[in-house]
Order: sequence, then structure tokens, then C-alpha cells
Amino acid sequence: MQIFTTVATLRERLAHEPSVAFVPTMGNLHEGHLSLVEQARQHGKFVVVSIFVNPLQFGPNEDFASYPRTFEADCAGLEGLADAVFAPTVGEMYPVKQQVYVEPPPLAAELCGTFRPGHFRGVATVVLKLFNLVQPNAAVFGKKDYQQLAVLRAMTEQLNLPLAIVAAETARAPDGLALSSRNGYLSATERAEAPRLYRNLQSIAETLNKGRRDFSALEDAARDDLEKHGWRVDYVALRNAATLLPATPEDRELVTLAAAWLGKTRLIDNIESRL
Ligand code: PAF
Repeated sequence: MQIFTTVATLRERLAHEPSVAFVPTMGNLHEGHLSLVEQARQHGKFVVVSIFVNPLQFGPNEDFASYPRTFEADCAGLEGLADAVFAPTVGEMYPVKQQVYVEPPPLAAELCGTFRPGHFRGVATVVLKLFNLVQPNAAVFGKKDYQQLAVLRAMTEQLNLPLAIVAAETARAPDGLALSSRNGYLSATERAEAPRLYRNLQSIAETLNKGRRDFSALEDAARDDLEKHGWRVDYVALRNAATLLPATPEDRELVTLAAAWLGKTRLIDNIESRL
């Protein structure tokens, strides 16, 4: 596995690779990331993983400085799975102050966008830059970041980017908690409590399967249960899975998304429902 830290050396190495699959990450890799890399192998002969904690997508009071950086362990985990790692410095990715941004679609202002203004603009901008550098045939993203996936699909489609976006299922711990780098922030007590988020989403999905369509009542019940157990809930929202607009009783493909805080850690998760 080769490691590149500069744009020039990465470009030179990829110049004659006809089939590249790409997994953008911010590092601190867990089993979920590694499964994205394994899936990437089915979509390209040469697999590139980027490791870059992107300052553009963090708000001023968010965890950019403390975000876990575990480069050595990440490379050890990728050995045998990826062909190349691209790990630029902030200066390499943003040699001048970034003044050109991708303006994401209106859905970026909803859900997480309400609580993290500018987040998806930062994500879309760095992902477009990475796409331009790596020029992959396919890029793999996890469904855990469902809204991010929707924003990046829209960007790829509406800007006619010549690659396929591949969506990978969320990897979970045996107790249901979605794997996330931010799980490492949880105390032992919080870690024991954390699966409640997914249990609430599962319970909504089961209720939908039984025919209930009183969406706000379902959202409120999940919110109440979480708050009763000490969570601070940003949102629990039933949405159309394709548009992420509020669900209507006519929709057949729904997704229930949630974001909530346990202590100082913000967790997100979602569950799809086909009715
Ligand atoms: O999902 C992530 O880890 C990041 O948002 C991404 C896509 C690597 C962009 O920085």
C-alpha cells in the first residue's frame, strides 16, 4: 500500500490507473470504514482511501481540534485492503484560503444542517476537491451519514460528475449501536445507554410496518423516550428516503433519522422503511 501526502505525487501515481474506487474518510478507522474499503474493491481495480480531517465542515464550537487522529493504526488496518492512502495536510488541501464552495441543495439546510450550519457546504466542497484529485470511477459512502449521502448524490448528479456513488449499509456493534469514530468519546455509562437511539428507530420502523402513519406522534414518542433517559435530542424525523422531505402517508420508501446528544457526544443514526 502506498501513502501519498501531496497532490502532485497522488496525481502522478493515478494518471494511468483506468479503474479507481475511492473511499473518502476522516481517519480513526473502524470496522465500518474497513467494510466500505472492502466494498470499494468491487467497483474499481485500484482502491484509494483518503484520510483528511476537513476543517471546512466543522463549526467554530465543534470538535475539529479534538477529532481523533490515529494515522499509524489507520494505515495498519488498511494494509491489504487499499492500494493507496491519500493523507494531505490542511495546507496541501487548502494552499490558499478556500473562497470557492459547492452550494449544496436546500435539503442540506434541514435536519443536521439546522444544527450544523455550513457543515454540508464544507463536506460537498472537500468531496468535490477530492473527486477532482482522485478522479475515481466510483466512490463509496456509508448510509449512516444518510443526509451526507443525499447531498453528495445530488452534487454528483447535478454537476454531471463522471462517477458512481455507492451506498453501503451501516455497520453496527452487536448491541445495535452504529459504528462511529465519535463513539470513542462516550464514557462507559454513556456507551451502555447509546444503543437506545437505534432501538427507538427500530421501534418506529416496526410501528410503520404495522400500518401506523401518525408520523409526528411516532417522532414525539421517540424523542420523549430519549429525553427521559438523559439525551438531548436535536431531531427525530420521518422523511421520504429519496428527497428527505417530510414523510407523507403516500410515501412508500421512508427513512427515520435521528441526531441526539449523550453528554458531550452527538450521535446520529437512521433506519430505512419500505412500506
Ligand atoms: O463522512 C466523512 O467522514 C466526511 O464527511 C467526508 C465524506 C470524508 C468528508 O470530509
